[in-house]
Amino acid sequence: MASQMFSRKSIQSIIADSQKSELKRTLSAWNLTSLGIGAIIGAGIFVMTGDAAANYAGPAVIISFVLAGLVCAVAGLCYAELASTMPVSGSAYTYAYGTMGEVFAWAMGWLLLLEYGIAASTVAAGWTGYIVEILKDFGLVIPAALTSASVVVQEVAQPDGTFLLKSAIEPQLNLVGAFGILMVTALLVIGVSESAKFTNIAVIIKVGVLLAFIGIGLVYVNPDNWTPFVPENDGTAWNHFGWMGVAYASTIIFFAYVGFEGVSTAAGEAKNPQKDLPIGILGSLVICTVIYMLVALVLTGVVSYTQLGVSAPIAVAINAMNPTWAQIPWPFVESGTLNGFSFLIKIGAIMGLSSVMLVLCYAQTRVFYQMSKDGLVPEVFGRIHQKFRTPASGTTLLGILIAIAAATLPLNLLGSLVSLGTAAAFGIVCLSVIYLRKTAPDIHRPFRVPFYPVLPIVGVGLCLCIIGLIFLDKLTKFMAGNWAPMAILISYFAVGVVIYAVYGRKNSRLAKGG
Ligand code: ALA
Repeated sequence: MASQMFSRKSIQSIIADSQKSELKRTLSAWNLTSLGIGAIIGAGIFVMTGDAAANYAGPAVIISFVLAGLVCAVAGLCYAELASTMPVSGSAYTYAYGTMGEVFAWAMGWLLLLEYGIAASTVAAGWTGYIVEILKDFGLVIPAALTSASVVVQEVAQPDGTFLLKSAIEPQLNLVGAFGILMVTALLVIGVSESAKFTNIAVIIKVGVLLAFIGIGLVYVNPDNWTPFVPENDGTAWNHFGWMGVAYASTIIFFAYVGFEGVSTAAGEAKNPQKDLPIGILGSLVICTVIYMLVALVLTGVVSYTQLGVSAPIAVAINAMNPTWAQIPWPFVESGTLNGFSFLIKIGAIMGLSSVMLVLCYAQTRVFYQMSKDGLVPEVFGRIHQKFRTPASGTTLLGILIAIAAATLPLNLLGSLVSLGTAAAFGIVCLSVIYLRKTAPDIHRPFRVPFYPVLPIVGVGLCLCIIGLIFLDKLTKFMAGNWAPMAILISYFAVGVVIYAVYGRKNSRLAKGG
């Protein structure tokens, strides 16, 4: 059994598999970069930045963006090397299979379900918030029972300044978020080039509104809002402000970058994967990092960080600017006028978050597609639809599962699970680079990580820091009575172990000599 757990696919067979992709090769370097931006800019910047600034880092959230960006840059370089060497749709899962062995590959597949599938559910929760807001602009109010997750994880502020942590299950479901996931699932079933067209349009709109926010917002910045830059720890928890707060906020902000590596799962559909995957991965990461820094600078410069702990922080900043030129007559609301700029940002956020859900769901289906080819998950995930040439049945099934998670689990809980899973996956990718350089030094590597081995080692260290910080936070909350995050985390990993033991190990194609 132990030998099967550590058995590896040969790099030659991985490369040979990649050359007989049954999927259509339609994606160019630009499509891949757009896919990356499509996956990156979403709930992280439109929703979570507010929480990170208001509760953990203050204006120094900009430093959190730099820290999280650094981790992703190192991981991105490692992804680029592996993706150019082994351009396969299974991405990090397949890299682990070719380097560290089956049990790591399975673990990676399970982590990627957090990184893509559960991340899509998280984004759906953020998407719901903006849908609710925009419907209000049309005078429509959806009952909270249809827009809130069943599991509730709250930090309730007490009069003495401490926080009471509470986990509960309420009779409500976020059906709006689930509906969003099912819509993108339908698009993915129909076809990849149709999905790529939607992504391109969404990318242009969301980048456009963020650039407008930066350009206009710079005029309204009040530098006083940046003082104190690193607010002192408020004594309620180890990570509520101070430098530990800045470090912890980077684990929240980390979510904002998740998705760039999803580009590597498009290897089977890329026209020229070895050259274009590194362009797509690194190009999208650089573009988004610059945009993020500027947005964070403007956001914390326009309003005090203390006001940003809301679900739509960018809208708060726009209201604070109070752009009188943007007021338009609007018959659907009582006041008779609407802030047109704020409305535009909401449209951008909705488009942006939709494209993130789309690309993350896409990446998830491609990882399970590859895992099913290897026999580690059921064959249904690898079946290609005759007409659409997409893994339609697997896409539908995953779409339903992701929609259920979106309906039941809240954004704050999901977000930290995603960051944890992603950091673990990034760490394994950095290790895979080191392993492959040692065991197969001569294979053709169209892209190589610079400053090897320093960068991959630093990458592993940084990922461990992120995992440690999130774990510490969950442990602190667990001790304070907030059981849900820890319980869900442990159950998630336990379910993974059981599925591998009862299904994957028995059906592995590699174990059967395939
Ligand atoms: N990076 C993506 C987002 O922020 C997952 O929504």
